[in-house]
Amino acid sequence: MPKSVGLSKDKNWWRQAAIYQIYPRSFADSNGDGIGDLKGVTSRISYLKSLSLDAVWLSPFYPSALSDGGYDVADYRDVDPRLGTLADFDELLAELHKVGIRIFVDIVPNHSSNLHVWFKEAIEAQPGSKARNRYIFRDGKGENGELPPTDWVSHFAPSAWTHESVMGGKGNQWYMHWFAPEQPDFNWDNPEVEKEFLKTLEFWADRGVDGFRIDVAHALKKDLSEPLRSLPVFETLEERGNKGKGILADRDEVFKIYKQWRKLFNQYDPPRVAVAEAFVHPERLPLYASTKTLGQCFDFRFIETPFEAAAYKESVQDALELALKNKSSCTWTLSNHDQIRHATKMGLNSAVDRRSWMLSNGTSHPLDMASGTQNALAATLFILALPGSTYMYQGEELGLHEVTDIPASQIQDPQYLRNNKMDKGRDGCRVPLPWQKSGSSFGFGTGGAHLPQPSWFADYSVEAEENDPNSALSIYRIALGLRKSLITEEKIKWHKSGNSSVLHFSRPNGWHCITNFRGESYPMPKGEILISSHPLTDGKIPAGTTVWLKK
Ligand code: NOJ
Ligand code: CA
Repeated sequence: MPKSVGLSKDKNWWRQAAIYQIYPRSFADSNGDGIGDLKGVTSRISYLKSLSLDAVWLSPFYPSALSDGGYDVADYRDVDPRLGTLADFDELLAELHKVGIRIFVDIVPNHSSNLHVWFKEAIEAQPGSKARNRYIFRDGKGENGELPPTDWVSHFAPSAWTHESVMGGKGNQWYMHWFAPEQPDFNWDNPEVEKEFLKTLEFWADRGVDGFRIDVAHALKKDLSEPLRSLPVFETLEERGNKGKGILADRDEVFKIYKQWRKLFNQYDPPRVAVAEAFVHPERLPLYASTKTLGQCFDFRFIETPFEAAAYKESVQDALELALKNKSSCTWTLSNHDQIRHATKMGLNSAVDRRSWMLSNGTSHPLDMASGTQNALAATLFILALPGSTYMYQGEELGLHEVTDIPASQIQDPQYLRNNKMDKGRDGCRVPLPWQKSGSSFGFGTGGAHLPQPSWFADYSVEAEENDPNSALSIYRIALGLRKSLITEEKIKWHKSGNSSVLHFSRPNGWHCITNFRGESYPMPKGEILISSHPLTDGKIPAGTTVWLKK
């Protein structure tokens, strides 16, 4: 096992960490082919270090036909040749560890790619064979099996079933996929699948990987008992409920898998950690975040919480209560590779229907980019001061906005391509990062970018922001640096602000956080100002500003 130089010995490092998500294809391109790669990430270690991060999480970099941005994995234990080699991965890991940054990789256990060797075997094999039993193959309905076995719907296609002939099968069965047809779901009732994933986790943990982000962690176990039950629509979380008996997701049996994974994680020193992506009823979240299972679970509530004092306070209270129940820590996140960038959400009138706005290429309603970035920074400082871990998404430290006008012909996302173009999809937050004010692909690489970058990226580039003390990048750097030394017990105390648009809380060590969400400037309480997300006006905290104080 590679020695980890420069990492803290604290086994609880993950409880209040600052974790930065890298979408490798769009971070930095080392060889000028327009696609970000692992060497590109390694070349930017000093940048990552300047953000005082505890860890980076890499979205999938495995071999993939990119039917779903890499979440269609053809081989779980290799690197896509366009992104590098395993040796490049080892080098990246070693260099990150040297500067004290840990690494999470993304595990996609619900489905593979149709190009995975197991699926290729399954398509060639007979119904009822061992190879088919690793996935979910069934006979169709109708006189000649010409109709899908059930009415189940998929996230990226009308039906969750595709006839095997589409993938070159010679028989008359259908296979199940909760996402794109190129993402066949595994049959997790088959112990061979369990064993295979344990091997994959071990493979990366042995290489020195510190943590795992678990994709669609709630969907591995399904009710596959015959006759298969009907589920013609996506249930809301409320409809699915808290009983652990969903048809396609959130079944109690899933925790047997994660308990096994936990045993494996605990064999390492320090124990490997994991964070679940689980869209489940809030009361079910603690089960995924339990120290007996995955240990931590994303809490996505801030992704949709309007930037308003009351809504923010309620979200924090709920999350803190849940964390107490599961003995885990809270997780906070404002953006990721599946979401419209939060600076954009916060610069748009909250009454605007974002889906239609995106389909209008961002033209149907005005976007106030400056106030969006300002509010986004205030929100970031607010969540960074809370107990728990913060997961950030590449580019948010630049105050970057969503790219809304990617031409239809260049869109890559199945959320657009496979949903009758009813949703612009997620490419707008996956556009390669601007490093420089000018030059080929704004310094992303020497050979263009795989998604088009708008001209306004120049003003949001690292180069443009680096020397501006009030830029988003400067604020992130200072705040994240300060946070390292301010981290304390996982508790907060609310203070009366006397203003319904202002929230004020403190941590046990006298670290105070005050956010003015809207309206009039708020008089600054006494204390040493550590940082302000936006300059004060006449010594007061303007709307859309967070201040950290030490008392
Ligand atoms: C969640 C991932 O975040 C998303 O990007 C992907 O499309 C789906 N899971 C399917 O893997
Ligand atoms: Ca490249």
